[in-house]
Amino acid sequence: MPAFGKHGIVGGYVPVRSDWTIEQDWAAYTPAEHATWKTLFDRQIALMPGRACQAYLDGLRTLPIGADTIPDFARLSDALMRRTGWQIVAVPGMVPNEVFFDHLANRRFPAGQFIRQPHELDYLQEPDVFHDVFGHVPMLTNPVMADFMQAYGEGGKRAEKLGVLDRLARLYWYTVEFGLVEEAGQIRIFGAGILSSFSETTFALDSASPNRLGFDLRRVMRTLYRIDEFQESYFVLPSIDSLLDFARTDFAPVYDGLAAQPDIAASQVLGTDRVFTRGTGAYHQALNA
Ligand SMILES: [Fe+2]
Repeated sequence: MPAFGKHGIVGGYVPVRSDWTIEQDWAAYTPAEHATWKTLFDRQIALMPGRACQAYLDGLRTLPIGADTIPDFARLSDALMRRTGWQIVAVPGMVPNEVFFDHLANRRFPAGQFIRQPHELDYLQEPDVFHDVFGHVPMLTNPVMADFMQAYGEGGKRAEKLGVLDRLARLYWYTVEFGLVEEAGQIRIFGAGILSSFSETTFALDSASPNRLGFDLRRVMRTLYRIDEFQESYFVLPSIDSLLDFARTDFAPVYDGLAAQPDIAASQVLGTDRVFTRGTGAYHQALNA
């Protein structure tokens, strides 16, 4: 599965532009690259009904994202701009935190320009165009997610100054990347890290191994996570609309309140948790055996 916990600097890369954007150069994608996109798209789209949340499905259906070719960011931006005022900009891979936050704060989503190699279908180190576009972009048609992502960019800059970015990054991780949501009495996926991963889509919803716990802001900000493996715990929002609270929250008092609180292991279930599923932990125990 993809691993992209940090927005850290690509080793040795010197950006041409200060905002790290590059041209997508859509015409330069090869038939083999479009074919890789189609392979990923076809197997993933088959898993979406009954697993992805409605906001995601609506977004995917109404954007120019199809099976046959890597999407054109200019067309995507036109469609998104009309819906929620967002644009997609191409970047070579991970970008420094301050660059990432500045893009989000200005309603620009930086998407990896490259696509993974055929032997990397299930794992890659950096977010590519499939993760970023198939995973993230459909949710940007949702007005609440659109505002939350902008607020995250603004909040990221503040959190960096306060030295508490790890707290805020956990909120992003357990929502935008690996979030689950209750919908019509079922648990559905809205996190891009899951929705762009064939194996984690079934693991997150169907496996007996992970915990599925009710979302609680302060609890999540204390919870460690794995960047190299499936998650040991997933958190379930009551609705996508509940993200709006976080977009409007000044986290400074929250950070203060958490200052003396210890971190919580990714596998831990607390007595105060609302437990949807208490996982067996079998998957991660086998990894450590
Ligand atoms: Fe991502």
